[in-house]
Amino acid sequence: MNAVTRPRGRRTGSKSQPKSQPPRHPLSLLRTWVAPDVFDFWASRLHPTWSWERPLARIVGRQSQSRDAVTLLLQPNRHWRGFQPGQHVNLGVELDGVRMTRSYSLCDAPRTDGRIEVTIKHIEGGRVSRHLCQDARIGDVVDIGQAFGEMTWPQGTDGAWLFLAAGSGITPLMALLRAHAAKGVPTPLTLLYWARTRDELCFVDELRALAQRHPQLAVHFVLTREGELGEGESSGRIDATLLSSLVPDLAQRSVYACGPGGFVDSARALAEPAARGFAAEAFTPPPRNIADAEGGNVEVTLAASGRTLSVPRGQSLLAALEGQGLKLASGCRMGICNTCACGKVSGTTRHLHTGDAIGEPVSALRLCVNAASSDLVLDL
Ligand code: FES
Repeated sequence: MNAVTRPRGRRTGSKSQPKSQPPRHPLSLLRTWVAPDVFDFWASRLHPTWSWERPLARIVGRQSQSRDAVTLLLQPNRHWRGFQPGQHVNLGVELDGVRMTRSYSLCDAPRTDGRIEVTIKHIEGGRVSRHLCQDARIGDVVDIGQAFGEMTWPQGTDGAWLFLAAGSGITPLMALLRAHAAKGVPTPLTLLYWARTRDELCFVDELRALAQRHPQLAVHFVLTREGELGEGESSGRIDATLLSSLVPDLAQRSVYACGPGGFVDSARALAEPAARGFAAEAFTPPPRNIADAEGGNVEVTLAASGRTLSVPRGQSLLAALEGQGLKLASGCRMGICNTCACGKVSGTTRHLHTGDAIGEPVSALRLCVNAASSDLVLDL
């Protein structure tokens, strides 16, 4: 839309009426007198999710989803801008005085009441997931970021689809599947969902019910460590034989895959060459270190704060800088959410998943999945 330039009234000595200004929002007037942090402090005494501009959400429901996963129903405040099925959100909680943030997938389609669902698997040793699965109670308030993620339904969902999910990878695909089901499953969709054992599967009853109701929807559970198999269940890891037996028309399908890195790599190798289209997201923490031929430490200069720190080559910059006492924003710690990204002014970094070296300046270096390979200057 083109901007319209309007003639401006003279400031003085004019008989014309000055242009009336649009009314300012009461909060923007208040900003003159009160700092947002101070406003948030007092507003939260009146209502737990009132804030100046921070998206916050109150836990309004919780449901056990499997042996080690819980679904939380959240009521966001007015600063939440909504999401598309398939996207993720950062949840922040304060544990022992330290604010910790992790990324989770939204597992429902957008609802008319504005509430959102996340399903959280308890990760061994994961403090945030343990808190959210075991300790968080209805009424608790969590920080939420705005939704992010690219693996959403494309415009015009034509053709047949195949969803490949493993473990927690079911959550974004469940949101996409629910959105498709809400439209009556207009195009064929097959879900293959891997778990080690039956009691690790989420959404089982709902998936079976949806598949019964919609002839174009097929659901297969694939269990890798279960002895006896039931109806609609198969066994084995992802391979060409299993895929061709369960999805003989793979060439006509677009594929979304989500799960741990090894699973997604296999799905990509098997399905990408054969399918109509392919997209994937992997939930894989980076290796703690990668071998860097030169070893030893390098100097990282933080341009904004003027500090220079010595960090080991080959270690995630996020972990290395946190190890030096820096408090840095982070979410997924897997290279997905972009929360940890900062500019790199100079120096060479190495990607912890691919081992690729990058010597050029970059505007958004993800510190959680990149390590220093030479002296660096970062916009921090
Ligand atoms: S913390 Fe999510 S990309 Fe680094």
